Amino acid sequence: MSRSNHPPHRRRARRSALAVGALAGAFAVTLSTLGMAQASEDPGVLARVDNPYAGADVYVNPEWSARAAAEPGGSAIADEPTGVWMDRIAAIDGVNGGMGLQDHLDEAVAQAGGQPIVFQVVIYNLPGRDCSALASNGELGATEIDRYKTEYIDVIADILREYESDANLRVSAVIEIDSLPNLITNVSPRPTATPECDTMLANGNYVEGVSYALSELGSIGNVYNYIDAGHYGWIGWDDNFGASADLFQQTATHGEATVDDVTGFIVNTANYGPTVEPYYTIDESINGTPVRQSSWVDWNRYVDNQSFAQGFRQELVSTGFNSNIGMLIDTSRNGWGGPDRPSGPGPRTDVNAYVEGSRTDGRIHAGNWCNQAGAGLGERPTAAPASGIDAYVWIKPPGESDGASSEIPNDEGKGFDRMCDPTYQGNPRNNNNPSGALGDAPLSGHWFSAQFQELLANANPPV
Ligand code: BGC
Repeated sequence: MSRSNHPPHRRRARRSALAVGALAGAFAVTLSTLGMAQASEDPGVLARVDNPYAGADVYVNPEWSARAAAEPGGSAIADEPTGVWMDRIAAIDGVNGGMGLQDHLDEAVAQAGGQPIVFQVVIYNLPGRDCSALASNGELGATEIDRYKTEYIDVIADILREYESDANLRVSAVIEIDSLPNLITNVSPRPTATPECDTMLANGNYVEGVSYALSELGSIGNVYNYIDAGHYGWIGWDDNFGASADLFQQTATHGEATVDDVTGFIVNTANYGPTVEPYYTIDESINGTPVRQSSWVDWNRYVDNQSFAQGFRQELVSTGFNSNIGMLIDTSRNGWGGPDRPSGPGPRTDVNAYVEGSRTDGRIHAGNWCNQAGAGLGERPTAAPASGIDAYVWIKPPGESDGASSEIPNDEGKGFDRMCDPTYQGNPRNNNNPSGALGDAPLSGHWFSAQFQELLANANPPV
């Protein structure tokens, strides 16, 4: 398929064209015959299946797979599905001779072999991207919302629309990591505010961009939008929880977006928080002191991402999202196996000894996020693993760096964030703890062999 043949931009027209199409009716009948979907009340809009991961394979990115297989021991996991990141406009066509979006989609259709397949694409190029950090600053300046729409989202949507009628292809679109939660937690008057996040709140371009992505991609019948919802160690505190859900609701009803454009939310993308802490829960008390008051938990309502995702799902439904939304958890790097992993609960002498001895999360502080030393691969990608959870997914491809550990000049817009520098200690967002990052790290998104090796060695479940 040639990109020059893309149909002109036509999202609303396309929707109404389907309204009278015989194909639409036939497709809906086929799906409901299989018990996979209910026909929508609007006979014109194709019904999506409730959980796109159920009964489907997930696309294996051949480029990541080749890099993983080239590492010693890496072939054991090289056929796992990972996210395909559209992290700049040029990624749509392919960077440095690599695969572009259309190449990946053609390959996904080939991998499907007549069965349903989920293609996981990450939408990650907002104006003023990564406003509270530097390692993943992007190419678009804070005001470049028009370029985001016309040179990025519209182009991606036009390509995806060419595959809309493929009955086996389900596109899982992860929408804009680390954007909206920053507008709650890293803006004035909070002590963690940055001028960049204040700017993105004031100019409205995160909300505008996310709502545009939702409505454009949501108009394509086989696209399933999952909005990034941070992780338990960010949104799990009372001050952030309800306010984030409200902002997501406002964004999903801004412009032309509606809550029907949202299949669900993803938590822990590219982060390291455990899926389930097996040896302690938030409801326990030690000698009368609740776990919630331990130094590690620090009044959070959650100790892990699965309980957070399930609780936040309820909150999102109560703010107006559909009751059948599903959650994804990125389990690519949150396994925390290896020799330092506890094998049972800690001593019940006092609450801190208990939590410190129990927690499998090996970080120095739950606010640490860059190339964490000691981390391991987490649960392998799995459909419908728990109530309210559509899938465990590997969106961050293991082996790709979170950021450079020292300054590296580049033309990707990436900055140097000292949270990726192992010698750094001085960020209020992790309470001025050491960063816990590995040394000798390349730019974010670049291959980091030493980290891949550590993730393999510390995998839990083991590889
Ligand atoms: C980087 C992106 C990269 C992604 C996946 C992000 O941190 O900024 O460039 O594509 O990680 O590795």
